[in-house]
Amino acid sequence: MQHNFTTALIHGGIDGDSRTGAVSVPIYQTSTYRQKGLGENSGYEYSRTGNPTRESLEKLIAELEGGTAGFAFGSGMAAITAVLSLFQSGDKVIISSNVYGGTFRVLDKVFKNFGLTYEIVDTSDLPLLESRISGNVKALMIESPANPLLTITDIAAASEIAHRHGLKVIVDNTFMTPYLQQPLKLGADIVVHSATKYLGGHSDLVAGLAVVKDKETAERLGFLQNATGGVLGPFDSWLLTRGIKTLSVRMDRHLENAAYLADFLRKHDGVTKVYYPGFENFPGYEIQKKQASGAGAMISFVLSDRYDIHQFFRSVKLIALAESLGGVESLVCHPASMTHASIPYEIRQKIGIVDNLVRLSVGIEDKNDLAADLAQAFDQSIVRA
Ligand SMILES: Cc1ncc(COP(=O)(O)O)c(C=O)c1O
Repeated sequence: MQHNFTTALIHGGIDGDSRTGAVSVPIYQTSTYRQKGLGENSGYEYSRTGNPTRESLEKLIAELEGGTAGFAFGSGMAAITAVLSLFQSGDKVIISSNVYGGTFRVLDKVFKNFGLTYEIVDTSDLPLLESRISGNVKALMIESPANPLLTITDIAAASEIAHRHGLKVIVDNTFMTPYLQQPLKLGADIVVHSATKYLGGHSDLVAGLAVVKDKETAERLGFLQNATGGVLGPFDSWLLTRGIKTLSVRMDRHLENAAYLADFLRKHDGVTKVYYPGFENFPGYEIQKKQASGAGAMISFVLSDRYDIHQFFRSVKLIALAESLGGVESLVCHPASMTHASIPYEIRQKIGIVDNLVRLSVGIEDKNDLAADLAQAFDQSIVRA
């Protein structure tokens, strides 16, 4: 039975345990399965190939993203690596300018060695995107909003261009989650997630998910998942399923807090620029409104040069200086030396990841406490009035 989205978060995929009636899918902590006779098995042979706890998560994410099949991996990077393995030597992938540094790194330092090349393109510029598509370009990989400047790409329009040239469209939906944005419905072919972030939601696991639209790609990705082996273990699959159940209530609070803090930052003297797709004057605001049902809870801002950035990061108390995002607790990071350090300095400058850029992942704490923490960190780090 098809459910409304928030019900599907809780009852989608495989619901509970049909054998015992347990409302929570059991953790099948096993590597292998007893077989009755040669060629007679229960549908499971070996847990890299298939595990019931992982399978319930995979069915759930496929339903939430509206795809034919889902795949769970040991990290977002393992999911992205498996998806990029769909392509071959001689192929080229176009990636959005601000993709996650790890996506750039795996293309630049791993896949390039095997002849799969890439080009960084500002995919929010559709005529530019189309002009960069040549014969050997086989895929377009979009992050929207992109990390960390929250650049918005029109997923439907970019997919239409890409499909006209026979490309597969991959969308990294980590920042939005299917609660806010469903790329397959907008025309993409494959969705990937760092489920470490909002889907898990509690900063207690590392996981990746991929969902595909068509059966043929599903078969190929299933083969690659088993062949390359970067699967998610049963316990983490269970933990992730547990996190997903509360996605909608968490996201609603994330959105409310982010809108409040974005406004707070915009008015603060210590900030010269705020990147937040919920501002009406933010480039791509209308596109974001059309393709997603919220602005997300990631905010990036440029600290005024009258403030000391090291002191700012040392001064936040409630908000932790840490890698990652999307958990219930608020985190700040320094993209230039943390998430995007693998991108060379010149490229970082060119794409706007300047050295005094701060990225804030807004959690679900009391918004007034968060604003107060930022305010005292600004006060502590002022160097020139
Ligand atoms: C947008 C995005 N995609 C992919 C990844 C990689 O995921 P993981 O860290 O789970 O391997 C991250 C991690 O920060 C991310 O932010």
